[in-house]
Amino acid sequence: MLRSYDEVAEAIKKMVVRGAPAIGVSAAMGIALGASQSVGTSVADLEDDFQYICDEMGKTRPTAVNLFWAIERMRATFRRAKATNHVEDLKKVLVAEALAIFEEDIAANRAIGKFGGPLIPDGATVLTHCNAGALATSGDYGTALGVIRGARDAGKKISVIADETRPFLQGLRLTAWELAKDNIPVTVITDNMAGHVMKSGKVDAVVVGADRIAANGDTANKIGTYMVAVLAREHNIPFYVAAPLTTLDLSLKSGDEIPIEERDPAEVTHIREHQLAPDGIAVHNPAFDVTPNNLIAAIITDKGVARPPYTESLQQLVAG
Ligand code: MRU
Repeated sequence: MLRSYDEVAEAIKKMVVRGAPAIGVSAAMGIALGASQSVGTSVADLEDDFQYICDEMGKTRPTAVNLFWAIERMRATFRRAKATNHVEDLKKVLVAEALAIFEEDIAANRAIGKFGGPLIPDGATVLTHCNAGALATSGDYGTALGVIRGARDAGKKISVIADETRPFLQGLRLTAWELAKDNIPVTVITDNMAGHVMKSGKVDAVVVGADRIAANGDTANKIGTYMVAVLAREHNIPFYVAAPLTTLDLSLKSGDEIPIEERDPAEVTHIREHQLAPDGIAVHNPAFDVTPNNLIAAIITDKGVARPPYTESLQQLVAG
């Protein structure tokens, strides 16, 4: 149970809550919680606290744009509602907005499943990387796993190969857990086995989530995704990205501009508290990589499926 905005921020930073949509929804909830706990008696006092909380939320993780999208939406809500000039009413509006963001995310994942399900053939084995499922979003569907669940709910028999996803092991710990619980057959492999299983003809499609998608379709996702996309191209396996429009960042022309989070070296040198690497060894631990748009067969969103060239198709989806 998180009892204050700074506990929420800490949970995001430490990846107790993780996955782009879940980070965005949690940040909105944290901001609403923090604002509700403000002891300010005037709208100006509340606004000071509110802006400070928004700034703090923005410092938690840099790559997933859903975080900044959610913060901006809360700020816009405050700007609009401020005219009421009533502290308690404003707090209620902020809580309602955070709950609306949560509900919209549930609906977005269902829509991704509806649009993406038809792309997956009956009997297919789908490889996924990281966890882009219920544990990374609101509700019980997910984005990449939402596509798999969409296919399953359309009556198809689907099985999944889950990359373990070093170093944080989201595939091994989270994807395997939630698919097994949902009775979707899942087999875990270590990340360095993906080439072999693709070459052996065991993979029919790859579906991954996203943390930030630039205007040209370049996609930041969990470290290792790029490697999987290159392998999929080599083996003529379609590589799909599944994400809600809240993961688009059309202000960035290409993926080169996406900030990549560097995390604690201990995630690489240790498994939990157990150190495996020699003392003092140098470590590089980027949490995400960028898959270039030319490797992506389609981007499955909550408003429809975008195909190359993404600079046009993504704009069209946003314009509705
Ligand atoms: O570092 P994480 O676990 O937050 O990274 C998560 C991912 O890369 C997911 O694939 C992405 O956020 C999409 S979640 C629906």
